[in-house]
Amino acid sequence: MGNVTEQHAERFNDSYERCIDNPKPPGFLYRFYEVFLSSSEEVAAKFKNTDFERQTRVLKASLYYLMLSCNGSPAAMAHLQRIASLHSRRQLDIRPELYDLWLASLLQAVREYDPRFDQQTETAWRQVLGYGIEFMRSRY
Ligand code: HEM
Repeated sequence: MGNVTEQHAERFNDSYERCIDNPKPPGFLYRFYEVFLSSSEEVAAKFKNTDFERQTRVLKASLYYLMLSCNGSPAAMAHLQRIASLHSRRQLDIRPELYDLWLASLLQAVREYDPRFDQQTETAWRQVLGYGIEFMRSRY
């Protein structure tokens, strides 16, 4: 919220579309999970029974919701509340520290899949996702 400007949202959105549209194998969100799972044994263990075809599909929508939640969109807030509770210690038990690896892995994948990646793109992703990440951490 607050310092997420329209310009950041637009930059994020354009970059996200370039990533999703990039045909390079294994695909943007699959690549993200490849990097994320190899970043930590704890992360890999959490996903040991995951169907990644479904997981990449739900994450794709979730990233749009995170963008919309910056402006308090009710549907986006409802989504954020649901996934925050799913990731909390009562359910998936995702430690707040793991969100740093999550964001670093996602930015690594963006770097590889957005041909126009630059410092401003990175700032836009950090700004736009920062609100949702902080929200989820605070609900641990
Ligand atoms: C802001 C960051 C994150 C977002 C937006 C996000 C989003 C999601 C979404 C949308 C789902 C699927 C929910 C459903 O099934 O309806 C999910 C599941 C899951 N997430 Fe996250 N997540 C985030 C961070 C993390 C982190 C840091 C971890 C650490 C390991 C993690 C581990 C998992 C696991 C284990 C599942 C369940 C997978 C399964 O069903 O097998 N997530 N996440």
